[in-house]
Amino acid sequence: MTTPAPSSRSVIVTGATGGMGGDFVRAFAATGADVVASDLHRSSAAGEELAAEVTAVGGGRVSFVPADITSDDDLAALVEHATATSGGVDVLVNNAGIFMDLGAKRPMTEVTNDVWDQVMTVNARGTWQAIKAVVPAMRARGGGRIVNMASSTVYNGVAGFVHYVASKAAVDGITRVAARELGPDGITVNALAPGLVETPAAIAMNPPEYLQRAAQGRFIQRGMVPGDLVSALLWLAAPESGFVTGQTIIIDGGQLQA
Ligand SMILES: NC(=O)c1ccc[n+]([C@@H]2O[C@H](COP(=O)([O-])OP(=O)(O)OC[C@H]3O[C@@H](n4cnc5c(N)ncnc54)[C@H](O)[C@@H]3O)[C@@H](O)[C@H]2O)c1
Repeated sequence: MTTPAPSSRSVIVTGATGGMGGDFVRAFAATGADVVASDLHRSSAAGEELAAEVTAVGGGRVSFVPADITSDDDLAALVEHATATSGGVDVLVNNAGIFMDLGAKRPMTEVTNDVWDQVMTVNARGTWQAIKAVVPAMRARGGGRIVNMASSTVYNGVAGFVHYVASKAAVDGITRVAARELGPDGITVNALAPGLVETPAAIAMNPPEYLQRAAQGRFIQRGMVPGDLVSALLWLAAPESGFVTGQTIIIDGGQLQA
């Protein structure tokens, strides 16, 4: 085990091998932070590849630990790894969620109870479970930063995704409760609510005309990319941002107001 430098930041990014996670891992590593990238066990090969690729660039150390965010045991092992390799956990980027695996959009009358439960279990319960898992380590460190991944779909009630939208509304609520309960511990909890980000998942789920219409309808008239979230994410995760909490920041290039 290597002893971490006292100033090094320890960051966990879940959903690291998805469309957005890799950009978040790269951004934190570029600041010199130690990053534990995590995703489902089935994504281990991609995760190991990502860790090797980012480590080779230089900056902070990156490792991959598989964890299902609905498993308390997996999450405990994830936190244990971060603690063993970097001395604790300073930042949790609670990015994992069922998005790509939602499949085609469908009317709410055709969403089955089983699919509803699955999406809520991962996106809502899993988000809360990941928070629960890091809290003891953050308390031990004297504070921390948690950034959840919500969605702008909550505010325009996008059609075809009732279960997903409900799950992200839950993330919004969890963010507020966690911010209130964890504030006294110096832990801030915020959420980013991205608009339509052109990740492989969004591209697979929406016809090109839909993405084009979204891009042209924004105040900032172009497609949104994961990098558009990075500056806000790093800001919310920074030690200096200790007075910003309980907020959901919509980042969509002005899509909602357009
Ligand atoms: N792409 C968009 O337009 C968009 C917009 C708003 C919000 N979001 C949210 O941002 C996050 C990332 O989106 P993305 O486009 O990269 O989606 P994605 O589907 O490509 O990535 C999600 C990642 O989460 C992982 N995951 C799924 N279930 C998991 C579980 N039980 N435990 C651990 N990991 C699990 C997946 O394996 C995947 O790598 C998601 O929470 C998504 O809902 C995406």
